[in-house]
Amino acid sequence: MTISNLQLNSKEEYLSHYQQSVEHPEDFWAGVAEQFVWKKKWDKVLDYDWENARFEWFKGAQLNITENCLDRHLKNRAEQAAIVWEPNDPNAKNRILSYKELHQEVCRFSNVLRDQGIKKGDRICLYMPMIPELAIAQLASARVGAVHSIVFAGFSATAIASRIEDSKCKMLITVNEMYRGAKTINLKSICDEALKAAPSVEKVIVYEHTDAETNIEAGRDLLWKELVNDVSDHAEAESMDAEDLLFILYTSGSTGKPKGMVHHCGGYMIGATYTFLNVFQYKEGDIYWCTADIGWITGHSYIIYGPLAAGATTLMFEGVPTYPDAGRFWEIVEKYKVNQFYTAPTAIRALQKCSLSLVESKDLSSLKTLGTVGEPINEEAWQWYKKYVGHNQCPIVDTWWQTETGGIMISSLAGITDEKATYATLPLPGVQLAIMDQDGHEIKSQEAEGRLAIKFPWPHMARTIYGNHDRYKQVYFSAFEKMYFSGDGALRDKKGFYRITGRVDDVVIVSGHNLGTAPIEDAIDEHENVVETAIVGFPHEIKGNALHAFVILHDDVVASERLVQEIKELVSSTIGPIAKPDKIQFVSGLPKTRSGKIMRRILRKIASNDLSNLGDTSTLLNPEVVEDLINSKV
Ligand code: WTA
Repeated sequence: MTISNLQLNSKEEYLSHYQQSVEHPEDFWAGVAEQFVWKKKWDKVLDYDWENARFEWFKGAQLNITENCLDRHLKNRAEQAAIVWEPNDPNAKNRILSYKELHQEVCRFSNVLRDQGIKKGDRICLYMPMIPELAIAQLASARVGAVHSIVFAGFSATAIASRIEDSKCKMLITVNEMYRGAKTINLKSICDEALKAAPSVEKVIVYEHTDAETNIEAGRDLLWKELVNDVSDHAEAESMDAEDLLFILYTSGSTGKPKGMVHHCGGYMIGATYTFLNVFQYKEGDIYWCTADIGWITGHSYIIYGPLAAGATTLMFEGVPTYPDAGRFWEIVEKYKVNQFYTAPTAIRALQKCSLSLVESKDLSSLKTLGTVGEPINEEAWQWYKKYVGHNQCPIVDTWWQTETGGIMISSLAGITDEKATYATLPLPGVQLAIMDQDGHEIKSQEAEGRLAIKFPWPHMARTIYGNHDRYKQVYFSAFEKMYFSGDGALRDKKGFYRITGRVDDVVIVSGHNLGTAPIEDAIDEHENVVETAIVGFPHEIKGNALHAFVILHDDVVASERLVQEIKELVSSTIGPIAKPDKIQFVSGLPKTRSGKIMRRILRKIASNDLSNLGDTSTLLNPEVVEDLINSKV
């Protein structure tokens, strides 16, 4: 594949491809798929059944995604940088891995995995910081046909244990310690704690990233650097069916435990690559940087699989935007002459609050495309990004998508289609959207506001929730007949541009991280002094949303600052620091409907200080509680 074979170059081309993708979806996607390396071509492009939520793309085809991400490029770009790695400490040495070197490292580690008994279909949990070894382990897992489950290295031991247990991972790969700005965090000890509750793990491979001593449990723990010493740098890529599992990635649901979204080899690869090339308009020789963590879907699709399959140079940054100071992102853009920069609104808002000199003092003239993802971007942040980072020269692509969609679904194509501040704008080819009203009917008028649904399958959609197909069916396919329901609200303007208005369920997006309120409530309820908890989101200047917990204590317990701290600690240790509520309010009761359901609408209004119109509270079981909630507000 040459990059230009998959790229749309004009608005007219976008329109005609979009139309073809709707009229003849199978032909359209087959044309895209032709550009990839297959060990065997498909028998059928698409087979699906909304009733049972079964979707199969490129049935019968055989491939290995790493042959597309690595081997294929050895002919023409062996010496080109595949991954440029910038360390946490700006004075430490960076690392640049060419396609040839990355291929060798991945082959070596594939041999290590095979030596340790890993076979096609085995699940491997990766709990690692943003270092090249994470990419190597991820790709090696794919090369041997194992299924990776990457857990963001900010999750707690309890959260890792439940994820490992859910998919019965056989192996865990981690580091001794990671850096986070000025801090170091001992990931290995978190893993040791997690493994007490996750007996499926037989082997742990530890990459010694710092000089800190590593606690080794004999018979279980192995050192990465010792294992890769004596292995060959050639490894056959396992032959995978297009519909074999590639990875599991956990995402929060509005109820219950996290959902292990499952992505498969063929369709996912095509979607990630096609969308990468078209949205960002990456050109030969460019340096592309996505600031996400590989522990989230954005990192999977747009740091690793999409860019590498496209033969791009992808930058990977270990650190945080504010270390050693809030000019770090701009320093990196200047240092590597980054051409495409993709980040989250929460990062933009945080940096926008800092001194302008931090951004103005850097040479950002290499930038061609700016991207945003993860939550709605507010007008002010959009304008700041456009003016101070893009110098009014760079298109902004506001990309709407989800862990479940695998790749970008709505976005402008940089410099090709029009942009509009705070609007994700138009669907990508192959994406058929619908806006649904309260009664579950599609709103056909051009201007519309309602719930966002997708009415035709696409190759990169998640196929199931690991071990729970019924939940998959229920969460995504039961709201509207023969449609996928996104959980988001959206509006459509006169030109057909879409704007995402936010979640319509009990998922709150805090600093770009999806957090289901139920698991956090469950964690707090575990505290011996707590009777019941309800959590809602409220608007926050930098994080987008923050969490407000309403907590009922046992009668004989006195509210105290110590209790507030204990509750925050409990959330941190059960789920992770990202889930800590900003506000904890002790209350005498929660507003409930007569059927016993918490009226979150009222709690949301109180948490956002919007007391003007609390709506009808007379149908509550306990209307008197509302007064008390307002009076005890923190
Ligand atoms: C939200 C991240 C507005 C949305 C790729 C979605 C957005 C959830 C945007 C998925 C955007 C993502 N504008 N909202 N451009 N992009 N979202 O699974 O609510 O971590 O449902 O995937 O983020 O989050 P997830």
